[in-house]
Amino acid sequence: MSTPAARFSLLPSMELRSSVHHTLLQWYAQEQRDLPWRTTHDPYAILVSEIMLQQTQVERVLPKYQQFLTAFPTLAELANAPTAAVIAVWVPLGYNTRAVRLQAIARQVIAAYDGRIPDTIEELLKLKGIGRYTAGAIACFAYRKQVATVDTNIRRVLHRVFLGLEQPAPLANDAQMLSLAEEVLPPDAAYDWNQALMDLGATICISKTPHCSACPLQTTCRAYYEMSQHSLFPSGTVLRQLRKVAEKKSSYQSQPFTGSNRYFRGRAVAALRSLPATQRLSLDALGEQLKPAFSIADMPWLQQLVNGLVKDGLLDYTEEGVRLP
Ligand code: ADE
Repeated sequence: MSTPAARFSLLPSMELRSSVHHTLLQWYAQEQRDLPWRTTHDPYAILVSEIMLQQTQVERVLPKYQQFLTAFPTLAELANAPTAAVIAVWVPLGYNTRAVRLQAIARQVIAAYDGRIPDTIEELLKLKGIGRYTAGAIACFAYRKQVATVDTNIRRVLHRVFLGLEQPAPLANDAQMLSLAEEVLPPDAAYDWNQALMDLGATICISKTPHCSACPLQTTCRAYYEMSQHSLFPSGTVLRQLRKVAEKKSSYQSQPFTGSNRYFRGRAVAALRSLPATQRLSLDALGEQLKPAFSIADMPWLQQLVNGLVKDGLLDYTEEGVRLP
């Protein structure tokens, strides 16, 4: 098996990215949750929602979000309020230091930014208590900046889809996950993409018992592929549950990755053996050699096939295409 670093270096191909973008954004257009902070661009309201959502589930934030904004409709009103009054409204949410921190941010914005919440990650990070996730969320959700952001849900989804199972250990650290998120950000769709990743992570690609059978990215997902291969199953509740979900899958989804897999692996290597040593074959061209009716819909399958061959040291893969090592 390849090392985590080697696997991480397998950047998703343009084809895989396009397929994931298309599928997830389409799913989000139909299935997105109706959340009040998605109907506003007010940076203050977005800031309030993001601080509330840091340690509290969406369902519990929903009533408090509106209540808080009714009590403190503007950044200035929050900044000028007695801290005790802010805490009093916040209390049912818990983790009350967030209320104090939120008010301190409001006061800092008044003092240092003339009351306007900054719109760049760099400036947002200068606000005490705002980390990279919240800075990215505000830049993206309030100011429509085309930036990536990684919270727990986004991290889990991106890891599973592009890198594979996080067990027994994640294959990427925080910095690597952020660069992966930046790498796969779809052009001009950062807002919907980031929200969609969160929705998928909160409703389907949940931590312990993901609903793979309902997932729009199932056939593209590397973790799902790994599960269907039954090759990466050290003991552990999470993996057992993940495998159980995977095993429920219809034969269609497991077929291309199992029964016929060896056949196509052999064909891929044979196709590349006939190439001059340094020449690469694009993924499209390889696909066409493997399946006469190859189409873009087969790209996720092909990507998994190629990743498997690379992992086994049988293929060399870059953005330019594949060749034998
Ligand atoms: N968690 C953190 N930010 C969120 C958002 N904007 N929508 C849903 N869940 C979130």
